[in-house]
Amino acid sequence: MEQELICYEELDSTNAELKRLAEKGIATDGTVVLAAVQTAGRGRRGRVWHSPDNGSLYMSVHVRPDFDIEKASMLTLLMAYGVSDVLKRQGVDVQIKWPNDLVVSGKKVCGILTELHELEDVGHYLIIGVGVNLSKEKLPKELQEVATSIDAETEIHSERTVLAKMIAARFRELYQQFQTEQSLAFIKDKYNEILVNKNRQVRVLDPAGEYCGLAYGIEDDGRLLVEKDDGEMVHVFAGEVSVRGIYGYV
Ligand code: BTN
Repeated sequence: MEQELICYEELDSTNAELKRLAEKGIATDGTVVLAAVQTAGRGRRGRVWHSPDNGSLYMSVHVRPDFDIEKASMLTLLMAYGVSDVLKRQGVDVQIKWPNDLVVSGKKVCGILTELHELEDVGHYLIIGVGVNLSKEKLPKELQEVATSIDAETEIHSERTVLAKMIAARFRELYQQFQTEQSLAFIKDKYNEILVNKNRQVRVLDPAGEYCGLAYGIEDDGRLLVEKDDGEMVHVFAGEVSVRGIYGYV
């Protein structure tokens, strides 16, 4: 996967721009878009991603999988793992909240939004967007309970362009291995080592019905293994589901 980094001062959303570039035939496998500020940053489930011009990181990576698109959801976990690796290398004590939030001191510092698209001549492609809160600047009041930033929690100061290049490079390495194996088995143990939900009670927010159970960790395909309070083992697929701790975000 060739990597080209395209930097902007301001965008509506790096995910949206990368889609436009793909439609114009400019973005190919490995193209990375980075912006200093987003005016319409998108989060999962239609939420807004707070994206001020404060040195935080907003980037998106274009991926054209040549394998069964059903397996594409695993790439979101792969990216979360890749970002955690890079942050750990910087000295940050980071954990993963399944499936793809990164957490420092129990609060979210990074979110990942993967969007699937299709082009007539190219077929399916993915845009994996990564937002990392890097700045000490105060988050909006409604986020302060659940979110924080690397700068607020550590003495580590990362420059967003440097970090973006490291993330893109690490993701490329992991993606190459994933293409061969088409499974998350090769990162599973390490992912589970830093999984904040591991061996903890979780509340599974399934649109079909909420339930509680004990989370054991991910399986080779990224599903979370949860033992329900009635003893039933459930393999939770990320899709529409998210998990919470019993007493709060983690
Ligand atoms: C989440 O809700 O946790 C996912 C947040 C993803 C935010 C990133 S910032 C860069 C990219 N562009 C967007 O509009 N969203 C993603």
